[in-house]
Amino acid sequence: MSQSLATVAYLGAAILFILSLGGLSNPETSRRGNLFGMIGMGLAVLATVFGPRVSSTGIVWIVGALVAGGSIGLYAARVVKMTQMPELVALMHSLVGLAACLVGFASYVDTSIQLQGAEKVIHEVEIYVGILIGAVTFSGSLIAFGKLNGKIGGKPLLLPARHWLNLAGLLVVIWFGREFIHASTVAEGMVPLIVMTVIALLFGVHMVMAIGGADMPVVVSMLNSYSGWAAAATGFMLSNDLLIVTGALVGSSGAILSYIMCNAMNRNFISVIAGGFGSGGGAPAKSGEAAEPQGEVVPVSAAETAEMLREAKNVIIVPGYGMAVAQAQHTVYEITKTLREKGVNVRFGIHPVAGRMPGHMNVLLAEAKVPYDIVMEMDEINEDFPDTDVAMVIGANDIVNPSALEDPASPIAGMPVLEVWKAKTSIVMKRSMASGYAGVDNPLFYKENNRMLFGDAKKMLDEVLGALRG
Ligand code: TAP
Repeated sequence: MSQSLATVAYLGAAILFILSLGGLSNPETSRRGNLFGMIGMGLAVLATVFGPRVSSTGIVWIVGALVAGGSIGLYAARVVKMTQMPELVALMHSLVGLAACLVGFASYVDTSIQLQGAEKVIHEVEIYVGILIGAVTFSGSLIAFGKLNGKIGGKPLLLPARHWLNLAGLLVVIWFGREFIHASTVAEGMVPLIVMTVIALLFGVHMVMAIGGADMPVVVSMLNSYSGWAAAATGFMLSNDLLIVTGALVGSSGAILSYIMCNAMNRNFISVIAGGFGSGGGAPAKSGEAAEPQGEVVPVSAAETAEMLREAKNVIIVPGYGMAVAQAQHTVYEITKTLREKGVNVRFGIHPVAGRMPGHMNVLLAEAKVPYDIVMEMDEINEDFPDTDVAMVIGANDIVNPSALEDPASPIAGMPVLEVWKAKTSIVMKRSMASGYAGVDNPLFYKENNRMLFGDAKKMLDEVLGALRG
């Protein structure tokens, strides 16, 4: 393939990626967006493999790597459960970071590139910055992976004088950067490069370890953004325009998503990165542990729940992580359909950080074919709870926790939540009194107008559906 044809193909791929992002911003167009992304990526890979810069021996290596990587990816995508998706994404971000580091070192030792003067300095800056971002992304994403799958605790690690430590690390990195640029041989430049890589790796670990469980959504999208910048840096090192464009698209969309997440949680982006949030003043229970009883809860049966739903005029369903675990979305849809047929106005209230990844609930509800027009964002529906007869919370906890608004000492203080307790009756469906992801007790359970339907969400909803139909 000639250079000009490859450039045209790259341009086409870049446009498809932009259309893909546009499509993914709305559930109704998201399938099309996905398709655009797949075609764009296919085009990009073909144009690269058969482009002018790959020799015939190179193609053999690339095809071998494609088969190996593609098979692992296919296997992982098939076996991974929907609830493990965020961990998988974090792991993939770490691979992007690792790739940026490896490409950086390879570019540095590559003797076929002979540059002089300003060009040489620019290339070395690209390498230094590329490895820096790559190393932070790599180690940070691995820690995020550990935190998301529970192997590492959600509590933030707050080292004494941690901000000073970070600042000292930054100054050392800048100083070694100067040494690196001034090095006259590859062997001489290798020392500052390795020192900087080690500092960047430690910084990545420290940065994510210092972030509390409640702020993990921001970390996930922030690392997504970093992985984009790492890819863009790799594009600069390899002089690959498409990689630069794609990396910048991922980097900037990840940054916008982080900003949206911060707004959704009423957090300041800089403070989240600086760490310590999510620990709060209180002593949160470990996620999943039973909270200390704060009063009496009123359990209800599936039949009683069905009765309340049948008699209601307005119902708001608030799904959370537990609905994803139980895979209860299809039964939720059946219940919605049955109630709507009986004339009940059923809508869904979606919190921006419900579940474990952005848009988690929207994806599940779309999969179950719940109509988009009854799925509302938190801001659209929060004022309607006082006029609601039944608010049904399915496997959600932190996102309906009134202490976020009422208790300034709570680790989730300030986070906007779905105010389900303002409905005439709220019903919380979960298996036990255990806390949610943030490990915070939930006073909602003890409110007078709240009822608890204990059990696995799928099993209990099947019973509710049976009672509704019966
Ligand atoms: P959580 O606060 O984690 O609560 C989920 C609840 O579901 C748990 O209390 C659990 O209680 C219940 N549950 C689990 N399995 C269940 C099952 N099979 N049947 C019924 N219930 C079940 O979830 P949420 O309310 O969706 O809030 C999300 C939390 O995750 C927030 O703290 C958010 O910051 C964090 N987070 C979000 C993201 C993104 S981007 N969305 C990423 C990382 C972290 P039982 O054990 O008693 O059943």
